Amino acid sequence: MISLRNVRALARAATAIENQTTESRAFLEEISAHTGTGLILGITGPPGSGKSTLVDALAQAFRGQNKTAAILAVDPTSRASGGAILGDRIRMQRHHADSGIFIRSMATRGSVGGIAQATANVAKLFRHAGFDFVVIETVGVGQDEIEIARLADITVVVLVPGMGDDVQAIKAGILEIADIFVINKADYPGADRTERELHAGGWSARILKTVATEGIGIAELIDAVTSCPIRPRQLDAEAQIDHLGIAVRSIDAALQFYSGSLKLPLTLRETVPQEKVDVAMLPAGGPRIELLEPTEPDSVIGRYLAKRGEGLHHVALRVSDLAATVQALRNSGAHLLDEPRRGAGGHLYVFVHPESTGGVLLELIQS
Ligand code: CO
Repeated sequence: MISLRNVRALARAATAIENQTTESRAFLEEISAHTGTGLILGITGPPGSGKSTLVDALAQAFRGQNKTAAILAVDPTSRASGGAILGDRIRMQRHHADSGIFIRSMATRGSVGGIAQATANVAKLFRHAGFDFVVIETVGVGQDEIEIARLADITVVVLVPGMGDDVQAIKAGILEIADIFVINKADYPGADRTERELHAGGWSARILKTVATEGIGIAELIDAVTSCPIRPRQLDAEAQIDHLGIAVRSIDAALQFYSGSLKLPLTLRETVPQEKVDVAMLPAGGPRIELLEPTEPDSVIGRYLAKRGEGLHHVALRVSDLAATVQALRNSGAHLLDEPRRGAGGHLYVFVHPESTGGVLLELIQS
């Protein structure tokens, strides 16, 4: 168990996870076994909106309420900008003496997907360590920042009045991910106009005004954050295709192609009585091919073969939190075929009807 009380162990685990060392695998397993209950808060917005000052003010307010917070400052553009965000953090060094606040900066590591995944994992590490709040702060509002900010449970988009352009000029993508808008530097002229524009834009997110340099509006922001319903999007940078399910009349015949000719390794052959199906699993890179042969005609796969013939039966996507994903799908009106069930290997799975997915039966699984 990595605790926020052991700053050195925490820093070491974060470095291992960020650098994807072999040691990080053990940490990630530990984290998924004990996820923690802290709130992951994303803070994003255009440069110059005072995000760092706002995060600084939030950190102070959290400590005033006897709450702990980890701050993860992410700069996906640091190679080009020279890591300005790191300079900003010097201002926050005074928190270092205070064990309730932990600050970590992350810069670009290869692809956007790479930094999003690393950010998700380090944020999970901090929640696992027991912090009440994990704040992910991004430097700008590019596509990369949007990807990162949306990893959070709740996303705050910070704007300022009179930035020389209307709200409409700010990329719509960043407005759409907001759970809460903060108009910071609200003592500047034009704050009301920015608020009107947000209302006129039809965004349903709450709008708050702050003057972070003076601590004005920070308590209200914390209230809004802690009472905001969490969108179950939850750190799913790691959703990935797990397998493609192919309905065949005969697994033995199909294996002559997939295993014999194509040379895919055969890692699993089993019968799943509850589904009345024989299964063969063949890894193909990351994802696997799942061959499905019915054990009797009166079964899901048996009826599929009778109606449609052999072919792609379903696509299986692995998600990190199936319950949260199912909740989100229900909220959005998606048609789930059943309740999540436990499969032979102990994993949870559920099927989503093709009418909700663009015509493909979708299996969602979580190990
Ligand atoms: Co499957």
